[in-house]
Amino acid sequence: MITVLEGAALSTEIALIRDATTGMAEFRNAVFRIGLHLAAETSKHLPTQTISVNTPLETTQQRVLSGDVNLVPVLRAGLGLLDPFLQILPSARVGFEGLRRDEETLQPIEYYRKMPPTTAASTFIVIDPMLATGGSLAATITHLKEHAHTKILAACLIAAPEGIARIEKEHSDVHIVVAAVDRELNSNGYILPGLGDAGDRLFGTV
Ligand code: PRP
Ligand code: URA
Repeated sequence: MITVLEGAALSTEIALIRDATTGMAEFRNAVFRIGLHLAAETSKHLPTQTISVNTPLETTQQRVLSGDVNLVPVLRAGLGLLDPFLQILPSARVGFEGLRRDEETLQPIEYYRKMPPTTAASTFIVIDPMLATGGSLAATITHLKEHAHTKILAACLIAAPEGIARIEKEHSDVHIVVAAVDRELNSNGYILPGLGDAGDRLFGTV
C-alpha cells in the first residue's frame, strides 16, 4: 500500500530540494516543511479511539490517537524528518536505526540501533528521505518486526519504483507515504531525477 502526496505547495517544495543550487540551510528548511505534509498524511493511518471531552459548553465525543507512537529515523538522513514529525506527533517516542549503504554492494550495514519498549498497542513510523533500492527500509522493517504485534508505517520524501516494489514484495503489510515517486535508479543506486545524497545535502558533508 502506498500513498503519494499531491498539491501545489508540496510540489513547490520538492522543486526546491531537487535543485542542485539550493544550499544546505534552505534544503533543510524545505525538508522540514515537506515533513509536515508527510507527518499529517501518515498520522491519518494511526490507530484511534473515541473519548468524551467537556467543552465549556457541553460534552462531546472526539477521536484521539490510541496506543503509543514510535518514530524511527534511519540515520543519518532520517533525522531531517524527525522535527516535523514531532511537531505533528508531540507525544511520540523516538527509536534510532543507524544504517549506511555499502557503496559497492548497495547493501545496508547496521552500525546502531536503539528502540523504545513496545506493547501490543505500539505503532512504529519509519522516516527516511530516500527509498532507493529499498534495502535500508526493508532491513529496518525486518528489525522492527522482531517486536511482535506492532503496526508499522513508513514515510519518505522520494521513492524509486524499484524500492517501492521491494517493500511491497517483502513487507506488503506496511503502508508507505511518499511525497514523490521518481523514474528509476542509476547504476550507483541513486534515484533519478532525485535530489542527490540526502544526508550530504542535509548536513553539509558533500
Ligand atoms: C540513504 C538514505 C536511505 C538509503 C536509501 O542513506 O537516507 O537510508 O540511502 O537507499 P536504499 O533504499 O538503496 O537502501 P545513506 O546510506 O546514504 O546514509 P546517510 O543517511 O548516512 O547519508
Ligand atoms: N540515498 C540518497 O541519499 N540518495 C539517493 O538517490 C539514493 C540513496
